[in-house]
Amino acid sequence: QAAEKGGYEHFMMKEIHEQPKAVEDTLNSIIKDNQIVLDLEGLDISNLSQIHFVACGSAWHVSMACQYIFEDLTHIPVRVELASEFRYRNPLLSKKDLVIVISQSGETADSLAALRLAKEKGIPTLAIVNVLGSSIAREADYVLYTLAGPEISVATTKAYSAQLVLGYVLAIYFGKEKGLLEEEKVRYYLSELNTLPKKIERVLEDKERLQWFASKYSNAKDVFFIGRGIDYAISLEGSLKLKEISYIHSEAYAAGELKHGAISLIEDGTLLIGVCTQSQLYEKTISNMVECKSRGAYLMAVAPYGYYQIEDTANFTTYIPRIDEHFIGSLAVIPLQLLAYYLSVSKGLDVDKPRNLAKSVTVE
Ligand code: G6P
Repeated sequence: QAAEKGGYEHFMMKEIHEQPKAVEDTLNSIIKDNQIVLDLEGLDISNLSQIHFVACGSAWHVSMACQYIFEDLTHIPVRVELASEFRYRNPLLSKKDLVIVISQSGETADSLAALRLAKEKGIPTLAIVNVLGSSIAREADYVLYTLAGPEISVATTKAYSAQLVLGYVLAIYFGKEKGLLEEEKVRYYLSELNTLPKKIERVLEDKERLQWFASKYSNAKDVFFIGRGIDYAISLEGSLKLKEISYIHSEAYAAGELKHGAISLIEDGTLLIGVCTQSQLYEKTISNMVECKSRGAYLMAVAPYGYYQIEDTANFTTYIPRIDEHFIGSLAVIPLQLLAYYLSVSKGLDVDKPRNLAKSVTVE
């Protein structure tokens, strides 16, 4: 097994480092000569009335991020659904809708059942899957593969990142097909996306700082993640990673929602992590962070290089490279994965096989 871990102590760390490649391979599989190449023949993209993303766990968090990006680039209304809810609530679907199921394994029972339900109702289905020939890949009308390679660690990292970039490219493609994005804009987005692998590498270079930070917080009882828009979607994933492998209770909140409940849990020393990457929203999130600081919270921020004034508020900041803001979540999530990893290691836990969790949940 040591050889399979490629010199890393755990599969999770190996897979965290495989993210630049997973992203690059996935992008290269659908972008050729600066053109998006997707086989979606027969899908009437221009007339779609609604897109329903259906998934579980981290794939649901990818869907949450996709919601913001799709609505912005395609002007198609998006709903994001937990597969376990969708399958039992008799969802209202129209023939002009599209159901997109995202799944690493392609075998998650609830996601598969949701896909079958959509098919029974005659709604077109598209699957974003990592495992070749899996049930969801076989049964969906259209399949797009993430090229993350086999993922061993229960806590997903590289499959999540590959799903995100596939979502971005799909949104750009739909926007183009609908006539909303000019050639030049498409080229700009694709050239930004091509910078992602190198920029992820750049974030990984700072891992020791997060290791140091994690060593101070291994006794944390509660951790809160906040953000707005795409930053909220990334907060959800950061919080899930943390609770999955470090067993520290954590919650992710849309920053503006804190005041409706969770702020009562903030006390002296509570760690609050603000994801602040969206220029239109980040002042708002910072003001929520200030409210928590005045109640005793210790603040960590994730922000792009150049947003240095954040240090007036945050006690610890981790910077990420700049990129078009639709795609910056792919960079913001990396420090959160590293933080969860190092907290788990510093508590001496089984990083790759956390208690009570399975890599793929094939029963209900
Ligand atoms: C399990 C895994 C998660 C994963 C979820 C959905 O809970 O531990 O990491 O996000 O299932 O799995 P899928 O294979 O459908 O992406």
